[in-house]
Amino acid sequence: MSADYIAFTEAVYKKTGIDLTLYKESQMKRRLTSLRDKRGFISFSDYYKALRSDEQLFKEFLERMTINVSEFFRNRSRWDTLETRILPELVKQRGSLKMWSAACSTGEEPYSLSILLHLLQVKGSILATDLDESILNRARAGLYMEKSLKEVPPAQRDQFFTKDLAGWKISERIKKPVTFKKHNLLQDTYPAGLDLIVCRNVMIYFTEEAKIDIYNRFSDSLRTGGILFVGSTEQIFNPAKFGLESADTFFYRKS
Ligand SMILES: C[S@@+](CC[C@H](N)C(=O)[O-])C[C@H]1O[C@@H](n2cnc3c(N)ncnc32)[C@H](O)[C@@H]1O
Repeated sequence: MSADYIAFTEAVYKKTGIDLTLYKESQMKRRLTSLRDKRGFISFSDYYKALRSDEQLFKEFLERMTINVSEFFRNRSRWDTLETRILPELVKQRGSLKMWSAACSTGEEPYSLSILLHLLQVKGSILATDLDESILNRARAGLYMEKSLKEVPPAQRDQFFTKDLAGWKISERIKKPVTFKKHNLLQDTYPAGLDLIVCRNVMIYFTEEAKIDIYNRFSDSLRTGGILFVGSTEQIFNPAKFGLESADTFFYRKS
């Protein structure tokens, strides 16, 4: 790592609590270098000086380092398993479920979960968190373009969204169980006693060391029998190491 980039990661950590060294370096450095170059800075130290005083530039930096793409029912077959196998199993154990959508981006993930709860008539609360406050505001607004709804069956789309000129707006009853809150997976305290954690398509950005720490903390957050639902490229190769066992493909049960 160049001294310039190391100093940059240290300065960013001091300002934001975001530890860039826990993200895969080549990927992160490439993304940030291209943004820095685009804005006309030749070193990270100049770029950081500008970031400190220019709020817009800082917002742009944050948006670039956090990759925000999401959609409803991403990898649909896994959500079908959640609906038909995992949620019914969890409900048998507890009447009301305590759930966490970690790194929820623009909200499609916690709202997909809320739609399933509604369809199955399951009671529960969903904490939805992300590092990026501006993305959480978009999630709270609950307004989506057609393309993020491509996995939502038309009947459900008409039932749970209303269309206006700006896009598709999620209904209040689907919003109701969801609470959005800022949370850094690498730094903040995790909630406890959870029945289900959904954390998808963020672990791929972290170093091995960071991943191990996060899986251990997820395991501590789950009650025995609780489930961790991960992304479709994020299989855990040795779940027992974290006190987890495979419950289905990309689902792990706290043992
Ligand atoms: C690709 S999105 C995944 C969205 C959703 N989970 C999905 O699978 O569709 C990755 C999200 O991780 C968030 N993120 C990145 N680093 C994070 C961290 N340290 N703590 C919490 N969220 C983080 C980003 O802000 C971004 O919204």
